[in-house]
Amino acid sequence: MNSIMKQVAELIMNQQPCVALTGAGISVESGIPTFRSKGGLWEKFDPAVYASIEVFRQDPSKYWSIRGEFIRNYDDYSPNAGHLALAELETMGLLRHVITQNIDGLHRKAGSRNVTEIHGSLREIFCVRCGKEYRAPKIPEGMPPLCVCGGVLKPNTVLFGESLPPQALETASRQAGTCKVMLVIGTSAVVQPAASLPFVARQNGARIVEVNIQNAFPAADFRIAEKAGVALSGIVAELKKLPFQGC
Ligand code: APR
Repeated sequence: MNSIMKQVAELIMNQQPCVALTGAGISVESGIPTFRSKGGLWEKFDPAVYASIEVFRQDPSKYWSIRGEFIRNYDDYSPNAGHLALAELETMGLLRHVITQNIDGLHRKAGSRNVTEIHGSLREIFCVRCGKEYRAPKIPEGMPPLCVCGGVLKPNTVLFGESLPPQALETASRQAGTCKVMLVIGTSAVVQPAASLPFVARQNGARIVEVNIQNAFPAADFRIAEKAGVALSGIVAELKKLPFQGC
C-alpha cells in the first residue's frame, strides 16, 4: 500500500496545482454516516421524500424528522485525520483548493482555508419567511424548528431539486478545469454536478487519484482502496520524505 501512496506523493509533488473533491466518505471516521454506502442514510430514508425541496415546501417536518439520524448538532463533530491531512497539504503549498459535497463543515474546522462547500453547510440555518439567520449551535428545537417570526427554518444546504449556489459552482468548475491532479475522496460520484468535476479535470489533462474503500470512480489513474484518514495521512507522510522542490 505504501508504494501507491509514494507514487501519489510524487505525483502531487511534481504535478501542481492539485485540488481535492470530497464526499461523505471522508467524514465517516468522524462518526457521520454516508448516504449510499452500507448503512447509509438513503438506505433507510428515501431522499425524494426526506431531502427534496418540493416536499420540504409542503411538509418541512419530513426533512427535520431525520435530523437526529445524520448531524443533530453541528458542533458535536470534529475533523479526523483525513480532513487534517488535507489542511496540512494546503499549508505545505501542495493543495490549492478543497471542493466538498459535505455539509458538516469539517474541512474548515480542520483548518483548510480554500474550501468550496458546493452543497452548503449546516453552520447556518435561516427562516424561509423573514430570512433571519441562526448559527449553530443556537438552532431552535421544535418539529419543525420555527423562527421567532413563526416562519419555518431551513438549513443553508442544497436539497434535491434546488440549484447549487452559482458562485460555488463557478469556483468548483474553475478549480477542476485548471488543476493537474484531482484527489477524489470518499464519494460515490453519482450526484451531479459534482460527479462531472473529475471529468472536467481530466479534460484539462489532470491525473485523477481516487481514495475510496470501494471502486466508485473507475476512470481514476490511481486508486488507493483505503479509508480516507489512513490514505491521506500516508500520502502526507510520503511527501515529507521527498526533497521539497518548492512551488
Ligand atoms: N474512506 C473513504 N471512502 C469511504 C469511507 C472511508 N472511511 N467510507 C465510505 N467511503 C466511500 C463509499 O465507498 C462511497 O463511495 O464514500 C462514498 C460515499 O458515497 P455517498 O454516500 O454517495 O456520499 P457522497 O458521494 O458524498 O454523496 C454525494 O449525495 O445525497 C447527496 O447531498 C448529498 O453530498 C451528498 C451527495
